[in-house]
Amino acid sequence: MSDKADAAGSSDHTSRRTFTGGLLASGVAGGWLGAVGDAVALPQRARIESLDDVLNIAHLDQAASRRLSAEAYHFIVGASDDGLTKQANRLAYQQTKIRPRRLVDVSTIDTSVELFGRLYASPIILAPAGNQQLVHAEGELATARAAARKDHLMVVGQMSNFSIEEVAATGVASWFQLYPSANREFMLHLAARAQAAGCGALVLTIDGPSRGNHEAARWFRSHPVKGQAKATGAPGKLGNFEDFAGPKGIGDPALDWEAVAALRKQLELPLVLKGIVTREDARLCRKHGVDGVVVSNHGGRQEGNGRATLDVLPEVVDELGGRMPVLVDGGIRRGSDVFKALAYGADAVCIGRPYLWGLGAFGQPGVEKCLRILSAEFERTLRYAGTPSLADISPQHVWRD
Ligand SMILES: Cc1cc2nc3c(=O)[nH]c(=O)nc-3n(C[C@H](O)[C@H](O)[C@H](O)COP(=O)(O)O)c2cc1C
Repeated sequence: MSDKADAAGSSDHTSRRTFTGGLLASGVAGGWLGAVGDAVALPQRARIESLDDVLNIAHLDQAASRRLSAEAYHFIVGASDDGLTKQANRLAYQQTKIRPRRLVDVSTIDTSVELFGRLYASPIILAPAGNQQLVHAEGELATARAAARKDHLMVVGQMSNFSIEEVAATGVASWFQLYPSANREFMLHLAARAQAAGCGALVLTIDGPSRGNHEAARWFRSHPVKGQAKATGAPGKLGNFEDFAGPKGIGDPALDWEAVAALRKQLELPLVLKGIVTREDARLCRKHGVDGVVVSNHGGRQEGNGRATLDVLPEVVDELGGRMPVLVDGGIRRGSDVFKALAYGADAVCIGRPYLWGLGAFGQPGVEKCLRILSAEFERTLRYAGTPSLADISPQHVWRD
């Protein structure tokens, strides 16, 4: 709570003059002030020179855009086609308002959540993201150390540069994300490794029967920027692919519900499907023995014309809520967004780009800062809304036109 983000929060009612004065005095404002808008807009335009300047997730984005090569930055922010799905994810949060209740005792806040019999301190989970050495040499190890330090669950991606065993050695609480492979033996082999490493669940990502159309990435491949191709110079191995002798192909466009049910029977860990975006598929999850879902459109990186995940959430919760954990991701940039997702019935949320911006710009401390900011904002929202614990949050706490 000693964080600068909290200091910014507590200055909500400070006059514009005092606030800009404070920034100028702290040396942040070096010639960029120009025409100053209102007190809220001002910090959004601040030029972020150091981690201490970072007040919100948008600042981490800005810092990453300045510090990373254009190619590495676009690896994080890229989306399919015209980015409409990614945009929709954000818009839904912006259009959702909170209905706070007054005179509730919020002197004690409890953000803990139970998933598959384990208690986690926070409902904010780090979403799987592969190839993190593209943005920082310490890649997933830095992310895991930050998550462990701040007590957040991390979903380790199959495509991570460091292996599941290397990540688990940091002490982070983890789940493991798998992609379908036509070679089921490879999937089972990875599932066994994840279980041996102490992962609490397997997350099968099923939203990619084809590759997302990332035109910016294709552009960079054919127009390499001299001296910028490699962001970090790190070797970028794929740690989870190294000890299996058979075919290790990723993607299986033939995967269907029967195959998922058959896979489920061979697994000991709970199986979570990532990428469910309709009521119909939610129903099929129940029918085929799935243990949990992530309502996700991959942050808009696969289909280019998807609905916002926040808009999808109610119909999935209607089918599955209370029967199995329902998580959601895509577009969460503020603690108040976490609150909105939980109010629509999610048990927990995952974040992707926010922590990758932190990682790319500042390494492990950047990821820690991201988690600290979102947690502080979330706790503040719980107080304002009159909901001291997650169980107190209900659909009555949000409003949409
Ligand atoms: C750079 C990057 C790499 C990603 N890699 C994976 C991956 O390997 N597996 C996966 O299931 N999802 C992957 N995702 C999707 C995230 O898990 C998550 O669904 C998405 O980032 C959530 O949206 P947000 O970035 O708006 O928070 C990736 C996302 C990003 C930004």
